[in-house]
Amino acid sequence: MQHAYIHEVVARDGFQIEPQFVPTERKIELIDALSGAGLAKIEVTSFVSPKAVPNLRDAEAVMAGIERDPSVKYVALIANLKGAERAVAARVDEVNLVVSVSETHNLANVRRSTDASFEGFAEIIRELDGTGIAVAGALSTAFGCPFEGEQAPDRVMGFVSRYIELGVDSVTLADTTGMAHPKQVLDLCSEVRNRWPELEIALHFHNTRGMGLANVLSGLATGVRHYEACLGGLGGCPFAPGATGNICTEDLVHMLECMAYSTGVDLDRLLGISKRLAAIVGRDLPGQVVKAGKSTDLHPIPVNLNQAA
Ligand code: COA
Ligand code: ZN
Repeated sequence: MQHAYIHEVVARDGFQIEPQFVPTERKIELIDALSGAGLAKIEVTSFVSPKAVPNLRDAEAVMAGIERDPSVKYVALIANLKGAERAVAARVDEVNLVVSVSETHNLANVRRSTDASFEGFAEIIRELDGTGIAVAGALSTAFGCPFEGEQAPDRVMGFVSRYIELGVDSVTLADTTGMAHPKQVLDLCSEVRNRWPELEIALHFHNTRGMGLANVLSGLATGVRHYEACLGGLGGCPFAPGATGNICTEDLVHMLECMAYSTGVDLDRLLGISKRLAAIVGRDLPGQVVKAGKSTDLHPIPVNLNQAA
């Protein structure tokens, strides 16, 4: 049986764009519930400017409040040295560096050029040296940018190469606004896998145009085993026009289970937590399995059918 690793991003990608601030206690409650569900990684928060992302201004309190399960890696997104210092103080297991492949989106997101971002990352990696904190390098807009359109695959490859030179432990290709399509994912992931067969790659898809799970199939076909997803299908980048939800974690796990992948995730438990999430944010969420039930959940045979027989 093949295994797929699920990285849950609701507490960061999900809550960063919510119209209402999710109270710290509710964030902690959700993360603690998710910790028992068998996920490989949980992105807890981001240590960015509270002016830029006010919804995650409680990053320290959330990190300090959660109960850590030793089998889960707790991750935080950072964009600069100040974020790295805060992440070290909060004792995260892994930081997720972020730079956009698109120059325009990088300026909108972190207010600097992509070169300046990479220069900053070199400093961050020196700061993290000896702390035991793992480093993931994320590439936003790797499959397309809402301002610039599709990004040249050579440029993406160049950015992957820069991360590898910096010594990151894994690289995440992120489709920030759901522009990726299955053939593009197949082509780009094949190219990256062929050039760096030993590199751990993760994929981060948004379902903005309904192609999210189809893109996962393309990723699986190229041998990528790590997928980021968001409970209930919440999520989006506040600095990308038209951003909508990530692929939904429970729908992803359900699909993988149907296809006989092991994930280690307890799907029933996840569905329960997704219902709780809908109650916390006070609205219906895009996830589908939570509404339809699993495909193995059968309905009772109608009484009149029994009579007809
Ligand atoms: N944590 C807390 N505060 C921070 C910070 C961090 N990591 N980095 C910067 N700040 C504060 C500074 O202290 C300064 O505060 P002040 O105005 O009270 O003096 C202010 O933010 C501006 O600092 P500066 O270094 O000039 O940053 P900037 O204005 O150029 O913005 C970022 C750069 C990266 C800090 C900002 O754009 C950001 O946080 N973006 C968020 C990106 C994000 O999370 N996107 C969604 C996920 S991809
Ligand atoms: Zn995202």
